[in-house]
Amino acid sequence: MKSLTVAAIQTHPVFGDMKKNLAVALELVPRKCDLAVLPELFSTGYQFTSRADAVGLAENLREEPAAGSVCRALTEAAAESGTTIVAGLAEKDGDRLFNSSVLFRPDGSREIYRKVHLFLDEKSIFDPGDLGFPVFEACGTTIGMMICFDWIFPEAARSLALAGAEIICHPSNLLLPWCQAAMITRCQENMVHAITSNRVGTENRTGTALTFSGRSQVVSRVGERLAGLDKDETGAATATLTLIEKDKLFTPRNDLWQDRRPESYRS
Ligand code: ACM
Repeated sequence: MKSLTVAAIQTHPVFGDMKKNLAVALELVPRKCDLAVLPELFSTGYQFTSRADAVGLAENLREEPAAGSVCRALTEAAAESGTTIVAGLAEKDGDRLFNSSVLFRPDGSREIYRKVHLFLDEKSIFDPGDLGFPVFEACGTTIGMMICFDWIFPEAARSLALAGAEIICHPSNLLLPWCQAAMITRCQENMVHAITSNRVGTENRTGTALTFSGRSQVVSRVGERLAGLDKDETGAATATLTLIEKDKLFTPRNDLWQDRRPESYRS
């Protein structure tokens, strides 16, 4: 059976200080780690005052070679460390703007997910993701990404699991307190591992203070919280995930995929 060392990195970004936010986050990635997940919008901060404000800090993530400073640095960090890194970044693509998560492989390649379910004022800043919920081969397994508020739509994790994800990487900037408990259920109902990487601290750039809820965690495919952090600390929650690929046997007589009855469900 294969196993992977993974880490949920919890940071306290300073809005707009991309250089510092990047350096602090990379410093927290443990040595000898197969997969590290950084929070949503970890390099920029979260509370943009307008779309133009966000465009000013966003990077084009599809250029080859990577041109944006954060995208380039994460590409290099993955190559130098041998760690697959997943990180939340603001992405500009022409005149479109996405709240994205990027998977950086040690071989220099990268993959993108664009947040489908935008939360609250994100709807005034970003375009909704247009790539669906793809999965990718990385660090010897199949990985899917979702971002923060995607958690409240069970279809997100379900789509990734049905597409073959064994691990869900979940960069977050959580404000509400319910996600961490819900992710235990998401893992159990799909028999997938999940790494939720949240941030801490407060931002108030608009007159509405936002306090982020921390409590990053690594949850196993049977719903055990293998590692976690508190609501106001920074650091890395590190765990070993055992990969049991293509096994959806929940009880000796219940295979979660074979027992589904799609003809009885509404979409
Ligand atoms: C969120 O989706 N950042 C709450």
